[in-house]
Amino acid sequence: MRAYRDEHERSIAAPEEFWGEAATAVAWTREPKQVLDADHPPFYRWFPDGELNTCYNALDRHTEEGHGERVALIYDSPVTGMRTRYTYAELQEQTARCAGMLRSLGVGKGDRVVIYMPMVPQAVVAMLACARLGAVHSVVFGGFAPQELAVRIEDAKPKVVVSASCGIEVSRVIAYKPMLDEALKLADHTPDACVILQRPEAAAEMTDRDVDWDEAMAAAEPAECVPVAATDPLYILYTSGTTGRPKGVVRDNGGHAVALAWSMKNVYDIGPGDVWWAASDVGWVVGHSYIVYAPLLAGATTVLYEGKPIGTPDAGAFWRVISEYGVKALFTAPTAMRAIRKEDPEATLLAEYDMGAFRTLFLAGERLDPDTYTWASRVLGVPVIDNWWQTETGWPIASNLRGLEPMPVKPGSPTVPVPGYDLQVLDEEGNQVAPGQDGAVAIRLPLPPGSLPTLWNDDERYVSSYLSQYPGYYVTGDGGYIDEDGYVFIMGRTDDVINVAGHRLSTGAMEAVIATHPSVAECAVIGVRDSLKGQVPRALAVLKAGSDIGQDVLARELVQAVRSQIGAIAALKEVDVVPALPKTRSGKILRRAMRAMADGVQEPVPATIEDPAVLESLRPVLDREKR
Ligand code: COA
Ligand code: AMP
Repeated sequence: MRAYRDEHERSIAAPEEFWGEAATAVAWTREPKQVLDADHPPFYRWFPDGELNTCYNALDRHTEEGHGERVALIYDSPVTGMRTRYTYAELQEQTARCAGMLRSLGVGKGDRVVIYMPMVPQAVVAMLACARLGAVHSVVFGGFAPQELAVRIEDAKPKVVVSASCGIEVSRVIAYKPMLDEALKLADHTPDACVILQRPEAAAEMTDRDVDWDEAMAAAEPAECVPVAATDPLYILYTSGTTGRPKGVVRDNGGHAVALAWSMKNVYDIGPGDVWWAASDVGWVVGHSYIVYAPLLAGATTVLYEGKPIGTPDAGAFWRVISEYGVKALFTAPTAMRAIRKEDPEATLLAEYDMGAFRTLFLAGERLDPDTYTWASRVLGVPVIDNWWQTETGWPIASNLRGLEPMPVKPGSPTVPVPGYDLQVLDEEGNQVAPGQDGAVAIRLPLPPGSLPTLWNDDERYVSSYLSQYPGYYVTGDGGYIDEDGYVFIMGRTDDVINVAGHRLSTGAMEAVIATHPSVAECAVIGVRDSLKGQVPRALAVLKAGSDIGQDVLARELVQAVRSQIGAIAALKEVDVVPALPKTRSGKILRRAMRAMADGVQEPVPATIEDPAVLESLRPVLDREKR
């Protein structure tokens, strides 16, 4: 582990030297003289006097260097039958035109643009077009319901919204435009215009406020790249916190470009001309970092796949894409592998495809259980690499560094802390624990470039959510340990955030919806283990005195309420009516104890519990073994 250890040590002991060197991979309109501004802890800024344009680095730079004919993006959409390749020159032309269109609608540097789109190339074009103008995009995942979209619109206050008439799921076409219209009714903020991409699968009804994507693009003048400060925001991405109100994670321009370029080479071993595929969605951080920005910054070819691992049309879909385009590495969530395994346990469909170019499978977004790891390694015969990170950091905190120094894999571990991250495991008092001992996984400040500098318009929440528990540290919200060899093990969230099929959701948000039901006195939502999706939510509700609603009726109504207010991806299926919820003497609901009981995990009951009999009475409901 020499190369890795040396680099990691250097990144912590001499961060300015380390990241100053990494910054030479980026083209600046004004080279940064200062690498790190540490004058205002706990706030840190990378490359404070640098100036650049992220879109220039992702597109124009490559065409200017003579690589305009290289394929930048492959769009593969089994749900529509479309397959299109865009060279760097073509993607640049489309993006410049889209930037011109947005500019004609009044969008300039610093203005926000909300993008609510399915996995179509226009979503990537719109993101890059914002970056080109120095505008700030905020992409909202298509699976979110109008209410969630409205909250984001209200917080980001976009000048323009870019959307599409529909998204296409395995079994149905989902009309996006009515959801956007509904969200705009719910939100106090009104954008000046909505640009709508009409897709043939469902036409959107247009109003005076709406602009047709195709018509506006045809009429637009291409716009040039606008230099911005390295510390200016590139995007806001809302993510689930422990409350119902999502957190607007801010990403800057300079640190982001430097960190992502470094990660493509050193973590993922991807360089110019390599074909790389991140099978996620542009609405998640994986999509932002590894479908859009990082592969293009690296001059690679990125695959944009509008489909699923199964059902479009079968469990061989991923292998087809890999063989058809000569994909060198695939990045997806463990859930996708579990879904494929369930349909095709021996991966017999692999035999139909030429996997000759395929070198590595990267998995992230949720814990990679050793069973899934072992299966994927066996059937694919390539290294299967877990990497652990979160929306806030924007790129891996722990990984096996395939480009820097590949290391032996320990199943269940994402391997080692990535250079830039001073990872420590702390006990409740904030002391570092011994190797092998569990605790809160924290990162000593400063966070490396690319990680969030703050939350949108809310420095206070940034500090109270992440930095105040252990002064000098960022808390990740994950629990785990680091073993004697320095390998990191992430065992799960210590807060009320859950991960359903790699989608990050807040149980607090679901509780807020359930609590509004007229028959519900109080409720708790917990994430319980699921063999396909990793975790799924389960709700427990206590009825108001005198309420005689039946369990089935209530369950149906609550499932529907969560679906229509948060979105289908919340995937709440199980609701139980219980006489009481276990609490501490101060009235805090003991969700963790219920989760342990549901998962069949032995965990000491907190000494502060008010009445242990209440928890015990839930065993027949929670413990699946006993049901
Ligand atoms: N727009 C609208 N609805 C969406 C959506 C989108 N972009 N994405 C998902 N949904 C809907 C689904 O249609 C489904 O609706 P339904 O309850 O009516 O069937 C619901 O949200 C739940 O979706 P999902 O959790 O994805 O479950 P699924 O049963 O449809 O698919 C998998 C299961 C495993 C195939 C799917 O979760 C998957 O491909 N996972 C891979 C993980 C991944 O890419 N994670 C991203 C982070 S890296
Ligand atoms: P998100 O912000 O959606 O990327 O979700 C981040 C959270 O997902 C982390 O805080 C972890 O709880 C979980 N997570 C992501 N990747 C991994 C991984 N490789 N192993 C374990 N948990 C993970």
